Amino acid sequence: MRPLPTHARELARLTPRERALFFDSLDADELESLKTLWPFWARPEQLIPEGDWVYWLPLAGRGWGKTRVGAETVRQWAREFGMVNLIGATADDVRDVMVEGESGVLASCPRDERPRYVAHRRRLEWPNGAKSLLFSAEEPERLRGKQHQKLWCDEIAAWRYPEAWDQALFGLRLGTKPQAILTTTPRPTKLMRDLLADPLTHSTRHSTFENIGNLAENFLDRVVRKYEGTRLGRQELHAEMLLDVPGALWTRALLEQAQIGYPPPRPEESVQQASRSPHPEEPPQAASRRTRTQLTRIVVAIDPPATSGENADECGMVVAGLDETRNVHILADLSRQGETPLGWATRAVEAFRNFEADCIVAEVNNGGEMIETLLRQIDANIPYRAVRASRGKFARAEPVAALYEQGRVKHCGVFAKLEDQMCAMTPDFDRTRTGYSPDRVDALVWAVTALALSQESGGAVFEFYRTLAGEQSGVG
Ligand SMILES: Nc1ncnc2c1ncn2[C@@H]1O[C@H](COP(=O)(O)OP(=O)(O)O)[C@@H](O)[C@H]1O
Ligand SMILES: [Mg+2]
Repeated sequence: MRPLPTHARELARLTPRERALFFDSLDADELESLKTLWPFWARPEQLIPEGDWVYWLPLAGRGWGKTRVGAETVRQWAREFGMVNLIGATADDVRDVMVEGESGVLASCPRDERPRYVAHRRRLEWPNGAKSLLFSAEEPERLRGKQHQKLWCDEIAAWRYPEAWDQALFGLRLGTKPQAILTTTPRPTKLMRDLLADPLTHSTRHSTFENIGNLAENFLDRVVRKYEGTRLGRQELHAEMLLDVPGALWTRALLEQAQIGYPPPRPEESVQQASRSPHPEEPPQAASRRTRTQLTRIVVAIDPPATSGENADECGMVVAGLDETRNVHILADLSRQGETPLGWATRAVEAFRNFEADCIVAEVNNGGEMIETLLRQIDANIPYRAVRASRGKFARAEPVAALYEQGRVKHCGVFAKLEDQMCAMTPDFDRTRTGYSPDRVDALVWAVTALALSQESGGAVFEFYRTLAGEQSGVG
């Protein structure tokens, strides 16, 4: 028999019989520790690179092993350094992916090396005394004044507030060699461009297919086959930075211009500033940095999928508000895939309440009367407006894009997936070629149209909301 494999790639070359013999030669404890022996499994480019880099930026397609590599890097760093912190796109991502996920820190560590997850203090406590503080990029304020010796940032191209990265950078200064690993599927954002141009960055690029042998069949179906051969697939699977699509209604530059920080408040809030936030995603401290602009009208727009279940289209759901100067502010993209109708309807009503919205707007071409029935089951008095698509998606979106060009629409933070769809919106948009339907854009278009372009009131924008709210619920 050949010598025992010292790396997974040798294991892969063995015949099934030889492999079985190898596993038989290990006792239960050895088998257990082999599972978490990262140097055995890792491909060379998944191990911490040598050199004087400050930012290690493995740009990779979905499923390549970004999260696993981040978690394993944290695990290795925590053996030597006292303060190895984590930042994820949202608090849920930090908990569900980076800490408790299948490729997260807890799953990557063998029992005797596994840190204690102290959720209420948002930290990991390692057996050797090292600590990992946990942060969400949606709360840049929490990062203020925090210092890091080593740092892992996951999916940094999808962070809502670029300010979180600025705060992280200020704090990356403990010890003699502060370093950060930034794992992400790339998007052509300013932050990505800056990082790639920085001489302190060590960047590598990898495709999903390098890890194909370790991916579940379900993932291959849901992600790989769906995106393969499509334009978005070049980004999502091959980690390419996509350039603007010729003929698309929006460009990256146009969206960058639209970007502002936190959402403006409703009038009544400015009185009791900072005391509470109606926006569930917004850090409470955000109020202190608000401008004098206020939102006078808020809508939740939904573009419901025709079917439900795992393979159904996404339910597009966008919340937007109008300020006193008649600029539109995009407040949230709550679109989600794979829900039941009752699921998305419930979330729409929740969003209506959380954002203190004035109305829910929904496209009814697909669901007809069902939508109103659903919404009213949850809240009988909800102000609701059905909209019907008489023109094509592109024609509907054009006047909305024109408002962006006039600088009249603001994005309160970065909405990664929504913006990807916007920048791919061409007159010949074809879902069989792109692999998705632009449901997020549809919801956005309905929201902006309702707030700033509605014909319903004979040109007097919003009158119909006042009427509607008065008619249906007495809210006005
Ligand atoms: N070298 C490897 N050997 C074995 N499994 C791996 C390797 N790299 C990644 N994986 C596994 O592949 C799956 C996808 O990895 P994950 O880190 O979640 O991908 P990403 O974050 O890039 O989407 C996980 O189950 C992970 O543990
Ligand atoms: Mg990941």
